[in-house]
Amino acid sequence: MAKKQTSYICAACGNVTSKWAGRCDACLEWNTLIEDAGISVGPSKKSLGKTRGSPVQLTDLMTSEAPPLRTGSGIAELDRVLGGGLVPASAILVGGDPGIGKSTLLLQAAASFANNGLKTLYISGEEASQQVRMRAQRLGLTQAPVKLGAETNLRDILTTLETEAPHLAIIDSIQTMWADNVESAPGSVSQVRAAAHELTTFAKRRNMSVILVGHVTKDGQIAGPRVVEHMVDTVLYFEGERGHQFRILRAVKNRFGPADEIGVFEMTGAGLSEVTNPSALFLSERGEPSPGSVVFAGIEGTRPVLVEFQALVAPSPHSQPRRTVVGWDGGRLAMILAVLEARCGIPFAGLDVYLNVAGGMKVSEPAADLAVAAALLSAREDAALPAETVVFGELSLSSALRPVSQTENRLKEAQKLGFSSAIMPKGGKAPGVEGMTLSQMPDLTTFVGDVFGAG
Ligand code: TYD
Ligand code: MG
Repeated sequence: MAKKQTSYICAACGNVTSKWAGRCDACLEWNTLIEDAGISVGPSKKSLGKTRGSPVQLTDLMTSEAPPLRTGSGIAELDRVLGGGLVPASAILVGGDPGIGKSTLLLQAAASFANNGLKTLYISGEEASQQVRMRAQRLGLTQAPVKLGAETNLRDILTTLETEAPHLAIIDSIQTMWADNVESAPGSVSQVRAAAHELTTFAKRRNMSVILVGHVTKDGQIAGPRVVEHMVDTVLYFEGERGHQFRILRAVKNRFGPADEIGVFEMTGAGLSEVTNPSALFLSERGEPSPGSVVFAGIEGTRPVLVEFQALVAPSPHSQPRRTVVGWDGGRLAMILAVLEARCGIPFAGLDVYLNVAGGMKVSEPAADLAVAAALLSAREDAALPAETVVFGELSLSSALRPVSQTENRLKEAQKLGFSSAIMPKGGKAPGVEGMTLSQMPDLTTFVGDVFGAG
């Protein structure tokens, strides 16, 4: 037998190389390459010479194959994130921190899909069937026509899938599965990769959908689900802060729907319940207008969402002042501070800066630039922004404010939640939204002068 060539896989990004190195070429992380004992790279001997995938005309496909029919779960927040329901024969990865609520979400999803007519199989590698049953009891799902399995051996699972032939199989979690032809321990990158590959290809061949649950670990040495991301159609992340009740299901990749879509849930004593009006939830802890607090009218996926930015600026006892950000990009904060200093003449040297998005929400839209700048200024000047005001706009390095997408949706959402004015960029066409007063600013300097009477 020919000697199998050794390959190495990066535990952080999943890049495969034939040579070991101290640093991954692809993601530049140190000490993440490990020997990959899993599937070898390149076409298999078996598939060579077969005609299975002979090309067809696109037009033939258009006429012969109807568009995929999706099945909704009935959980609207989940269906929207999936792009309108579950596509047959699709592979989905649901990643998240341990304990965030993945098993809870997927057991509820399993029950809902089953109630909507999909033959559903939930395989737990982490809990015994009795424990899953107890969870189902707590969630009030004991009557759902879901089949449960407690298995970790990949071969056994494939056999079960073969005999049961479900429409949807949920594998909780991919880190507990192990293939006996791969030598390394369950949870290692090789095992996770091999198991995910086997499961997704098997499912596609049999026309079944598969949802893989993956624990995210910060430590690159332990297999995160990163290596699995390339193998699936859809990647969803389940996020949230431990201390907070609500959870966000976020699509970071979706072949069958928009990425960046979010679904919002609240963890209750009886499982996850849907939050149909996230803005109200994110703003619920807000009191009187206070310095450093600014409401940003954002867009998450296809939906407007209002969130509160909170900033604190204080004299620093350190030679290197602190810049601490939660829920927003640290690099982007540095840029906004630089524009405030260089273009508006407002220094932050010698001041510690803390920026936080209330409620543990993460914001990645550049449209939040102006809201961040406003929160920083408001904190620094110890002056609250006018009450009932939302802020949005993208900032360029010249301090000019750029119009952002979906202005009307942002304004309407703000109006719906009781806000009466908006500070936003000039330019583009401003939609008239009844009951909203618009202050349109060409640049940050004008904003500083108009709102804080400085600059
Ligand atoms: P779980 O779904 O087991 O998390 P994961 O699969 O991501 O590791 O959820 C664990 C947490 O959720 C646990 O701390 C208990 C809590 N929980 C509730 O608050 N309410 C519930 O109804 C359930 C089932 C769990
Ligand atoms: Mg779990």
